[in-house]
Amino acid sequence: MHKFFTPDMRTDRTFTMLKPDSVEKGHIGAILEKITAAGFRIVAMKLTQMTTDDAKAFYAIHKERPFFGELVEYMTRGPIVAAILEKENAVADFRTLIGATNPEEAAEGTIRKLYAASIGENAVHGSDSDENAAIEGNFHFAGREQF
Ligand code: RTP
Ligand code: MG
Repeated sequence: MHKFFTPDMRTDRTFTMLKPDSVEKGHIGAILEKITAAGFRIVAMKLTQMTTDDAKAFYAIHKERPFFGELVEYMTRGPIVAAILEKENAVADFRTLIGATNPEEAAEGTIRKLYAASIGENAVHGSDSDENAAIEGNFHFAGREQF
């Protein structure tokens, strides 16, 4: 299959959200510390809240899944921290840092192992490809907000 990849597509950036449960529990500072200690540079960041339409668009790939309604409810129930992170091999290295989707399967020391309550409420998002990192970062940030 042809992989969409333009010559100017970056491989050193990913997009993350500290999800509503992380903000509610007061874990913003601890999670950002883990992220920067792992060598990621924050190049865009804000506290924001997704509308229902935002969440449906953001997670459109999951719209046929049984958990889609719950996922949209969860992601819109309060503010999130959205951020773009820079590091060599950013997408894969960040997925390693956050751990498996289900915290019960997440490796020791990962952000989800430390801070996620369940597979549904799992503390953080990490982009799954360079292409999606660019799409998701541009969904939340204007060009002048990306440093
Ligand atoms: P994310 O996109 O948020 O970084 O998470 P992920 O790649 O690890 O997992 P993905 O399969 O993309 O699922 C997106 C989010 O949907 C919720 N989910 N709930 N109840 C369930 O079985 C279930 N499965 C997934 C989680 O919030 C998951 O992060
Ligand atoms: Mg995903």
